[in-house]
Amino acid sequence: MRINGNFLRLKDSYLFAKVGAKTAEYLSAHPGREVIRLSLGDVTRPLPPAVIKAMQRAVDDLSHKDTFHGYAPDATRFGYDLLLDSLIKSYAEKGIGLEKEEIFISDGAKSDCGNLSDLFSAENTVLIPDPVYPAYLDTNIMAGRKILFADANEGNGFLPMPDERVRADLIYLCSPNNPTGAAYTAKELKVWVDYALKNDAVILYDAAYESFVTDPSLARSIYAAEGAKECAIEICSFSKTAGFTGVRCGYTVVPKALKREGFSLNRLWARRQSAKFNGASYVAQMGAAAVFTEEGKRETAENIAYYRQNARIISDCLTRLGIPFTGGVNSPYIWMKCPGGMDSWSFFDHLLERANVVGTPGCGFGKNGEGYFRLTAFNTHEKTEEAMRRFAALRI
Ligand code: MLT
Repeated sequence: MRINGNFLRLKDSYLFAKVGAKTAEYLSAHPGREVIRLSLGDVTRPLPPAVIKAMQRAVDDLSHKDTFHGYAPDATRFGYDLLLDSLIKSYAEKGIGLEKEEIFISDGAKSDCGNLSDLFSAENTVLIPDPVYPAYLDTNIMAGRKILFADANEGNGFLPMPDERVRADLIYLCSPNNPTGAAYTAKELKVWVDYALKNDAVILYDAAYESFVTDPSLARSIYAAEGAKECAIEICSFSKTAGFTGVRCGYTVVPKALKREGFSLNRLWARRQSAKFNGASYVAQMGAAAVFTEEGKRETAENIAYYRQNARIISDCLTRLGIPFTGGVNSPYIWMKCPGGMDSWSFFDHLLERANVVGTPGCGFGKNGEGYFRLTAFNTHEKTEEAMRRFAALRI
């Protein structure tokens, strides 16, 4: 028996696990300290009341024999009609037409970001932005693929564009970007789409933060770019939109028009899911469907506005201190330069030890993240304000 040796090529721990372990280590050495976490992008607002009510109704359904539900109705795509119809309507409002069979309900974006890799040969070359959400890199290292990076830096506004000299088969894009908050316009995405079509490549587009987009010139879906249905899979989640980080529900769009080597990726993904997945729960899906009701939309928007206010608290403080940063406008993340020329982990230690505030070291998102640091707007107003007071008091 041999293990998958690719695992030996991974860093010893996943970024957020390392941040958590270092924080726990600090707390065990300094019991009683009140540490404020602006690190993991985990929400703090309770679920919108419309979602709660829908989930309570769903629980009631499960308690009566006439309304009970077991496995989701379709053993390949796992979606209940109420949620699928709501998603189709929501895409239609963005000018994008989808069919039910093109939507696969998932337990959140993270799983599919890695699982989709099953559809593609290990011989494919992958192009991953740097910096970006570390799950793309780790899952492709596990799969043993050759990995290339698309540099995102101040020079290109953290929005890398295709390099015609580079040949990639699989391309990950995340917009608005985790961690930098930079987001593409439909015109910029069209350049990626054209590149993918020319190279017979497939784009895996992570739209987990689309609900934070306020600027109308920015895209909220890759399908805003013409031709994307022939080359792109879109992955999204209710985690950041509606506070589902603990509930778990998301969706992946695999257009019927997407074919490679003559095979429909929609059919391959349906085949993969039927063998390896059993869906998101009825209760979670009914809660997700409620996000699209009038009440749900209003309450979800209120929660997002709350987090935007936190982003402003952080941005205002950094501006006052003269610390350069991006993000925080169309994204819940603020991407700042580490003050005093510190490297990312030194600044992490400094902030944890001196201010008892936890953020995420930029280098954990890629080599171009070295010297940067990510703060999240997902904590409460009170804790965000207190964290920034402590931050300012450091006088660095
Ligand atoms: C993050 O902090 O980057 C996110 O919470 C990670 C995730 O969504 O898995």
